[in-house]
Amino acid sequence: MAFEMLVWHCGRFTTRLEVAGFRLYSRGVSRPPAPDRSPTPGLILGLVVTLAAVMGYTGYISWQISGLRRLQNNLVDRNRRDSLELLRIQNDLNSLAVAMRDMLDNDEPYPLTAWSAQFARIRTDLDDAMRREEQVAVADRTPEQSQYLSSSLAQFWDAADRMFEVARSGKQEEARAQIRLSLQARQAALSTAVARLLVQNNESEDRAAARIAGIYDGVERQVYRFLAATLIAILLTGVYLIRSNQRLFGRLAALSEQRSELAQKLIATQESTLRYVSRELHDEFGQVLTAIGAMLGRAGNQVPEGSALRSDLREVREVAQNTLEKVRSLSQALHPVMLEEAGLESTLDWYLPVIEKQTGIKIRYEKAAEPMAVDGNAAVHIYRVLQEALNNVVRHSGATEAWVRVHSLPDSWEFEVEDHGSGLLADPAKPGIGLIAMRQRAELLGGSVEFSTPDAGGTLVRLQVPRGKPEENAR
Ligand SMILES: Nc1ncnc2c1ncn2[C@@H]1O[C@H](COP(=O)(O)OP(=O)(O)OP(=O)(O)O)[C@@H](O)[C@H]1O
Ligand SMILES: [Mg+2]
Repeated sequence: MAFEMLVWHCGRFTTRLEVAGFRLYSRGVSRPPAPDRSPTPGLILGLVVTLAAVMGYTGYISWQISGLRRLQNNLVDRNRRDSLELLRIQNDLNSLAVAMRDMLDNDEPYPLTAWSAQFARIRTDLDDAMRREEQVAVADRTPEQSQYLSSSLAQFWDAADRMFEVARSGKQEEARAQIRLSLQARQAALSTAVARLLVQNNESEDRAAARIAGIYDGVERQVYRFLAATLIAILLTGVYLIRSNQRLFGRLAALSEQRSELAQKLIATQESTLRYVSRELHDEFGQVLTAIGAMLGRAGNQVPEGSALRSDLREVREVAQNTLEKVRSLSQALHPVMLEEAGLESTLDWYLPVIEKQTGIKIRYEKAAEPMAVDGNAAVHIYRVLQEALNNVVRHSGATEAWVRVHSLPDSWEFEVEDHGSGLLADPAKPGIGLIAMRQRAELLGGSVEFSTPDAGGTLVRLQVPRGKPEENAR
């Protein structure tokens, strides 16, 4: 039992050495230089530029649209309504002209006062039209123009009133003369002024149309500029992102390669140290203890049978024999010399029952169909992977049964350790180094290791080692 516990602890010891090796690696090696500048500030800048461009453009478009709306409401619409009122005024002025022509026509049997009702009706309509026109008149009308129209109209109505006064007093001819000399001229002047205003409205409508077309052109140009600026910003940000990603990934790949190289060197160093210590223990201490045992035996033979000294010498010889066995067991556990002398198959035949007895876990061992032909160097790594997988079953799975299988495939050897326990956690609270070391050893062998969940639950560790010349990889 003491021997078995010793072997178990040595198994744990080699695992801890691996742990120490990796921690040494992670602490002892000087840190690689910090990776290139983070791309985050550049990306934030790109985002800010793009957002600023979008916001600036949105502001510009809203401003242009509100300008267009103002132009249309203030100028174009008012201009049209103003022109309608001016046409109404012109129509009324034409009606006055026709009435005055009839009044001057001597064929009419009616007295001139007969037209006063028609004049009054036209006057009401004209006043209404003038009031409305003033409300919608466009801003670029001069005060003199507005003043001229209303005062001319007022003078026309004064003259018309006077003319009807004269007509009512029976002086028909005098009244006609007033129409001819004063009223007709005033009506013509008013008509001309209204026509000029209409022309002015048309011109201002043309100018507004030209300004609207200018705004559309400007907006179109800005759309192209904005699109070009945004595309350039996106392009620059994209190129920057791709380049910094390339740099970061390149650096990561280099670091990962360095880490893997260092880990493999550590594993190799650890194995050679363990092999050396194991041999020293076996050869040096083993020989010394064997010699002591032999000398004690000879010395005991020279002492008379039944004496106290003879029994003391026998006891000391037994102590030396026990120590020799312990030293050999320790040597075997640190580096099973058996691996080199008898091969992996025999070492597993010895090791698995030892683990079984010492942990109480039932191990079902399924051997390969053909004898295992694995090189000594590769055998050490395979042995360590199986040792770590079984240690994990004992420590983490909570299972009482485990399966160890060896399959000989056409191109490779396959080793499996399976348990139906708790299974691997996706994110273990205390990440260890055992699984990483397994991967590194598999890499050293030119093979691979997989961790999966069998159908019955638990954990399945599958190590695949190519046939051929694994020793080349394993050295
Ligand atoms: N057979 C298993 N069943 C259940 N969980 C497991 C098993 N093997 C590994 N694990 C889980 O995976 C984790 C990592 O295992 P790993 O061997 O890398 O580290 P460890 O055993 O905790 O420490 P050490 O570095 O000493 O090996 C363990 O902490 C455990 O949670
Ligand atoms: Mg472990």
